[in-house]
Amino acid sequence: MTTKFHSVKPILDNKLKQVYIETYGCQMNVNDSEVVLSVLQPAGYSICEKIQEASLILVNTCSIRDNAEQKIWARIEQFRPLKKRNKSLKVGILGCMAERLKEKLLDNGVVDIVAGPDSYRKLPSLIEALSGGDKQINTMLSQEETYADISPVRMDKNGVSAFIAIMRGCNNFCSYCVVPYVRGRERSRNPQSIVNEAKELFESGYKEVTLLGQNVNSYLWDKEVTFAKLLEMVAGISPQLRVRFSTSHPKDMDDSVLHTIAANSNICRHIHLPVQSGSDAVLKRMNRKYTREEYLARVEKIRQIVPECTLSTDMIAGFSGETEDDHKETLSIMEQVGYYTSFMFQYSERPDTKAAEKYPDNIPHEIKNRRLNEIIELQNRLSLISNEQDVGKEFEVLVEGTSKRSAGELFGRTSQNKVCVFPAGDYKVGDYVKVKVTSCSSATLKGVTV
Ligand code: SAH
Ligand code: SF4
Ligand code: F3S
Repeated sequence: MTTKFHSVKPILDNKLKQVYIETYGCQMNVNDSEVVLSVLQPAGYSICEKIQEASLILVNTCSIRDNAEQKIWARIEQFRPLKKRNKSLKVGILGCMAERLKEKLLDNGVVDIVAGPDSYRKLPSLIEALSGGDKQINTMLSQEETYADISPVRMDKNGVSAFIAIMRGCNNFCSYCVVPYVRGRERSRNPQSIVNEAKELFESGYKEVTLLGQNVNSYLWDKEVTFAKLLEMVAGISPQLRVRFSTSHPKDMDDSVLHTIAANSNICRHIHLPVQSGSDAVLKRMNRKYTREEYLARVEKIRQIVPECTLSTDMIAGFSGETEDDHKETLSIMEQVGYYTSFMFQYSERPDTKAAEKYPDNIPHEIKNRRLNEIIELQNRLSLISNEQDVGKEFEVLVEGTSKRSAGELFGRTSQNKVCVFPAGDYKVGDYVKVKVTSCSSATLKGVTV
């Protein structure tokens, strides 16, 4: 899953208490912020656009790398003067950092509430209890919580594409990763509640849903409903509803999912299949549970069963003990697979993970940085090659909005998840449009409607 800052669309209602929500981290957090709003609305809160108008600021946080946490610490400091000016203003820290750092977040005197990812149902009572004067904290991870019965209030901007969490937590314990510690054990959500949510979204105008989980391929309900089955159920809602999913773990991606994709044209032809490294020695220390060869065999199967599918990946540069040869293997696997895009990171040691315990963070910063830059440069080249192969071809694009560069153009995505820009004509957001690609950059396809 991608990690970035997400802004939210305001719902203004002056009679209600105003809450300002900021979301950092992956799509799971975006979805969780929507769950939070659904929990708060019946308690008399509505979202506000301006932080100055808020009586409650909530920050949904990410712990995946040290710089993600540093950003949030700096943000918390910016609330200090706001609280001086407005004595009744309260600040709550939600999400992964809340779970990881717990009461440490209260020490700076700015934060009033700390609530981990499985405790959002308790938010109204935590806020209520603040009037007693004590700071509130709840970070108990749960074995069951899936928020299955909560219909998240959609905060996304385009009204076309929405996230649906199909599971929570992670059991994989990749040695570098904090997620299993801050999100708890893996649990799948009742498939009927997922299908109902997707149906409701489609009926209210949405055209695309992305099924979310840290490892969607290990989705399992009642020993019977597998991820392939779930995909089929969601795809069956309507051929006009596109279905995406993220993230697939290479060790669990089996052929049944590929056959389901091949049999349903509305399941998008894109798989995010993070490899992390191309070196077997590094993959082993990362506890990824596949070899380079096994990964490439998966890719080969994808090419056979869903030939028009694009692939993307996540890459970590400079993991403990990574040699120059290991790094070269990373570059060579990227080249071999030909990813159309990648999310690329320098290794950041996370306290209390297996890697922090067993493998020293021993690659100097300059080397990590140089390797990351080589990975980025290569990816730019691969993205351009991948896009150039699409010039002259036709794709169905689902329109998401007006192009940032020119009001006369719309942008959307192909089934392969590539962004495509074309002249607006009479088309509007939410339409499916046939576009012939006429040119490209490494980031975008440009085309004309046909
Ligand atoms: N569950 C998803 C990934 C979630 S985290 C999966 O397994 O693919 C998103 C990405 O962050 C990971 O794929 C990894 O590339 C990166 N990441 C996780 N922990 C990291 C760390 N300690 N340092 C650098 N990158 C990390
Ligand atoms: Fe982290 Fe690995 Fe789980 Fe992904 S699969 S969230 S990288 S532990
Ligand atoms: Fe997501 Fe960051 Fe948590 S990537 S699961 S918000 S640690």
